[in-house]
Amino acid sequence: MDFLNLTRQRFSCRNYKSQRIEDNDLEYILECARMAPSAVNRQPWLFKVITSWDSHTVLQDLWQCYDREWFRSAPACIVVVLRHDEEWVRADGKRHGDIDVAIASEHICLAAAERGLGTCWVCNFDAERCRQMLRLGEEEEPVVLIPIGYPACDISSKTRKGWGEICDWKVIDDE
Ligand SMILES: Cc1cc2nc3c(=O)[nH]c(=O)nc-3n(C[C@H](O)[C@H](O)[C@H](O)COP(=O)(O)O)c2cc1C
Repeated sequence: MDFLNLTRQRFSCRNYKSQRIEDNDLEYILECARMAPSAVNRQPWLFKVITSWDSHTVLQDLWQCYDREWFRSAPACIVVVLRHDEEWVRADGKRHGDIDVAIASEHICLAAAERGLGTCWVCNFDAERCRQMLRLGEEEEPVVLIPIGYPACDISSKTRKGWGEICDWKVIDDE
């Protein structure tokens, strides 16, 4: 699959099969996350992999942080944690950890799509509850929950703005 098709294939999957994910698929996906770029190469992230086969009770606890029926169907979830003490901060004070974590998170979602696995970015969760549940340190912030598993639904339609709305490039304007 070329990259354009991969980006088209990835979608927010909101229904999963309970089937276990192969360890080598999870390793592949996490290696893709490890290769993500980050500001000053700080790599200020931690990927907490919670699976129904290794830690079912932890996964159940996680459901309390994002109470949606579909979220419970995922057999696993990767919690992407930002380590604030490791993120790069520009001279004017702008913190870059969220950007770094976002790039790594999308590497996870695209790598999963390549392996036929579904994912969904989830940020609208109870972060404080999640932090307590995972016993994260003061400097550790859970930023994204990524449920992952084989899709039990078809790809949703891609609603996207047109080129003219998002791209300022004369060749495109001419179209
Ligand atoms: C930063 C971010 C946060 C998101 N948070 C949620 C969320 O909390 N719950 C959810 O169901 N989808 C969430 N999404 C998924 C978006 O709704 C989805 O990516 C968007 O509608 C485009 O659809 P697509 O991913 O299928 O292309 C989030 C996506 C991003 C990038």
